Amino acid sequence: MAAAPEVTGSRIGHPMSTLRIEGGHRLSGSVAVSGAKNSALKLMAASLLAGGRTVLTNVPRIADVFTMIEVLRHVGATVAFEADVMTIDASGELRSEAPYELVSRMRASGNVLGPLLARQGHCRVAMPGGCNIGSRGIDLHEQALGRMGASFHFDRGYLEGVAPVLAGKRIVLEYPSRGATENVLTAATLARGRTVIDNAAREPDIVDLAEFLNQMGARVTGAGTSTIAIEGVESLTPATYRVPSDPIEAGSLALAVLATRGEAELIGARAQDLDVFGGKLADTGARWGATERGIGVSMRRRPVAVDFATLPYPGFPTDLQAPMIAYLCTAEGTSIVTENVFESRFAHVAELVRMGADVRLEGQQAVVRRVPRLEGAPVRAHDLRGGVGLIIAALSADGPSEVREMHHVERGYEDLPAKLRSLGAEVEATWGDDEVWMDLPQVSTTRDTP
Ligand code: UD1
Repeated sequence: MAAAPEVTGSRIGHPMSTLRIEGGHRLSGSVAVSGAKNSALKLMAASLLAGGRTVLTNVPRIADVFTMIEVLRHVGATVAFEADVMTIDASGELRSEAPYELVSRMRASGNVLGPLLARQGHCRVAMPGGCNIGSRGIDLHEQALGRMGASFHFDRGYLEGVAPVLAGKRIVLEYPSRGATENVLTAATLARGRTVIDNAAREPDIVDLAEFLNQMGARVTGAGTSTIAIEGVESLTPATYRVPSDPIEAGSLALAVLATRGEAELIGARAQDLDVFGGKLADTGARWGATERGIGVSMRRRPVAVDFATLPYPGFPTDLQAPMIAYLCTAEGTSIVTENVFESRFAHVAELVRMGADVRLEGQQAVVRRVPRLEGAPVRAHDLRGGVGLIIAALSADGPSEVREMHHVERGYEDLPAKLRSLGAEVEATWGDDEVWMDLPQVSTTRDTP
């Protein structure tokens, strides 16, 4: 047993192993959506840009957040996490390294590259390597920061960057990578002069990150568009920021409700983050719309098949591809799903077929044909979003299912069994035998995804 971490308020727990689901219960009611994983992780990494105490609220208590706490502590920050409030103190000299053990567990650990390079002039980040959804390079990060004056070399599985001075430049990203946009954006806040990122990622978490940086004293404009401009400043000061609600959790819960032909309100969710996704749901015959408190969804009949292709924001989010396929398995007609963002993000398909789905893979496409119903079965989560797809399928299936390797799902969903139960689902979680602190390394035989 490892020594207790300095993090206060973290829970002792076991990684969840299996979720048993008795399918066929219609989900209804209202449920609160937690803070966004992908915003919280970036804000935590960006807090390293300022000496002093950053306070983040509405932070989800999920395994990835605990991994990022480890990364921050590894570099020398002090972190406290009580309920949903996180305080990060990054005063003093930091150690500029994101070790392999943490980067291989969670690729977003590499988001410390930009902040550490800007603040320390040096950073060593383990190469992420492959994961269960594709090879996922870091070349765009390296090229862009290289243009700003950083020099990189590879050293035994690590990318090591040195930048005594970073200078603002016009960076044209070959692809609107979120991670590369974020690392350039954070590094540019302390660079000399003006940086312009063209073909920048436009996701809501980029907007959150820019707003947070501006509250720290940065001068960022254009976030949320393809062109972001950053005027470098001398230093940043800590800020307090509320993490907005998680669009991917909102979309996943919506699909769980719709797959069971239910009706629910997703409290705190922002419909404007999910326009294309919401439009596709409407095309299937579902009701989807903003309410005063969040998003309302309902579905009374068998959905109609729709085609969709994943794309960077504002396109259909790749993180909702697996949950959407699960929903479409019993839709009337044939759906053609094209995965454009990751090269091998279809591990859930073979598991869905075990539940009676008719889904065939043809390269980057999945062809989903109607089956009258899914049947409960034991299945295995291979990655975070694929695992949630299986849960959605199991909720709508006839009879009992077991979704195994739930530690993947715990990476990104806070209290999912409790949330599903509050909507009327019959689910029961079991936990592994090894007692661990949630913020200490978990044993995993496979490396995972976003
Ligand atoms: C982020 C999200 C993840 C989401 C993904 C795509 C976080 C923590 N994770 O991941 O949930 O699925 O966006 O919306 O926010 N690429 C390269 N070279 C690079 C960088 C990226 O080839 O230097 C490729 C990747 O292999 C992938 C694609 O570009 O095929 C998208 O990657 P990117 O947008 O960078 O995703 P992440 O930031 O890793």
